[in-house]
Amino acid sequence: MTVESSPEFSASLAQGAPPPPVAPELSEPPLAGGAVPVLGHGWKLVRDPLAFMSQLRDHGDVVRLKLGPKTVYAVTTPALTGALALSPDYKIDGPLWESLEGLLGKEGVATANGPRHRRQRRTIQPAFRLDAIPGYGPIMEEEAHALTERWRPGETVDCTSESFRIAVRIAARCLLRGASMDERAERLCAALATVFRGMYRRMVVPLGPLYKLPLPANREFNRALADLHLLVDEIVAERRASGQRPDDLLTALLAAQDENGDPIGEQEIHDQVVAILTPGSETVASTIMWLLQVLAEHPEHAEKVRDEVESVTGGRPVGFDDVRRLRHTNNVVVEAMRLRPAVWILTRRALTDTTLGGYRIPAGADIVYSPYAVQRDARSFADSLGFDPDRWLPERAEEVPKYAMNPFSVGNRKCPSDHFSMAQLTLITAALSSKYRFEQVTGSNDETRVGITLRPDRLLLTPVEW
Ligand code: HEM
Repeated sequence: MTVESSPEFSASLAQGAPPPPVAPELSEPPLAGGAVPVLGHGWKLVRDPLAFMSQLRDHGDVVRLKLGPKTVYAVTTPALTGALALSPDYKIDGPLWESLEGLLGKEGVATANGPRHRRQRRTIQPAFRLDAIPGYGPIMEEEAHALTERWRPGETVDCTSESFRIAVRIAARCLLRGASMDERAERLCAALATVFRGMYRRMVVPLGPLYKLPLPANREFNRALADLHLLVDEIVAERRASGQRPDDLLTALLAAQDENGDPIGEQEIHDQVVAILTPGSETVASTIMWLLQVLAEHPEHAEKVRDEVESVTGGRPVGFDDVRRLRHTNNVVVEAMRLRPAVWILTRRALTDTTLGGYRIPAGADIVYSPYAVQRDARSFADSLGFDPDRWLPERAEEVPKYAMNPFSVGNRKCPSDHFSMAQLTLITAALSSKYRFEQVTGSNDETRVGITLRPDRLLLTPVEW
């Protein structure tokens, strides 16, 4: 596939048209600079992955990376990231997904491919459709206001645990209609924090057998992973025992059928719940942390959000129905996601010999790209590192190149939860800002911490009443 591929063209391929023949004379993409013997680019990727990914476009639109003995391809332009995500020549695979599968399960939607993936998307999609989101409004409202009540002016807020807590609670309460979520959300947060930390380590330093040794860190990781799976089992068992079938995602999963019309197995139900809860909480929690960091760092924007909420609500508590009128607040959320995308790296694997940007990509090759690098590129955004929510005003947003801002990705793997996430993030930002501004306190560290998602290292804030 080349960059000329339109979504329509991709769709026609998906419907069965044969892929275009690959011209034999196509060349290999250039090797990115800075490789060292044996480790190749690996040491740079481990040392400072964000800086490394961000300078790759200077070496070409598609570049080769050497990670030890392995060659990996990186695409660097917005157009090519779109072409990659929309092309049927690639599937979800590669080191990131292999390590996720091994730990979180092989049968969930986030790691499936082909007909199973299409079937699973059909099962979960109704829960995330635009017209389903207002049904979650009361829970989102309740959680957003409970958070503002829970925080006390002048007291230190540990933003990591608080952001996880509300993200897990909203996902679990809206999508799984789970009862007793207080205690479960705490356990889930603790388990997920340890699991994600350990998973990232296993991904970047794949020392296989070493992670099986009975070391304290490995034991802690295994305990957290076991607790995560146990919690999911509890949620499923509780629903079954209740005999209830509310109109939610869990009911859809329990009633789902496979390609032959048979009920899906227990393992798939389990893996599906894990595959929805884990990305659902980690990504939203990281984004809430960045939003809090932005509100503290840019009091002028916090004030503008407060004023907008006030003008829309006239002083009553902000509600779900106000969200679509909170234009500036929404733009603050989008701009925070541009500069600090929770999902900063994505990978695909070529299913067949194919092309990207006129270069040859062999079957089986791993391809990576970084939404972080693309969304901060000065070639796409004026003052690209500046925090400017007004760049999302309709007249200015038109200038943004296609695919330069896609924090939820595009194509058949696009996040199903874009509307669900934007609604809750905007509502939480509005509810918090209408009551407080924020200040970082001693001991807080808002440096970017790179893991499976990006988040501030240890954000500690104190809410101050307006
Ligand atoms: C997939 C981002 C919230 C569930 C994805 C992908 C991205 C993404 C970029 C595509 C991965 C790829 O192309 O390889 C985000 C961001 C979020 C967010 C930035 C919030 C700020 C959520 C939430 C849920 C969720 C709240 C569920 C409750 C999923 C699932 C997939 C996915 C199940 C896999 C889809 C598939 O492979 O078909 N997300 N996500 N995400 N996301 Fe999200």
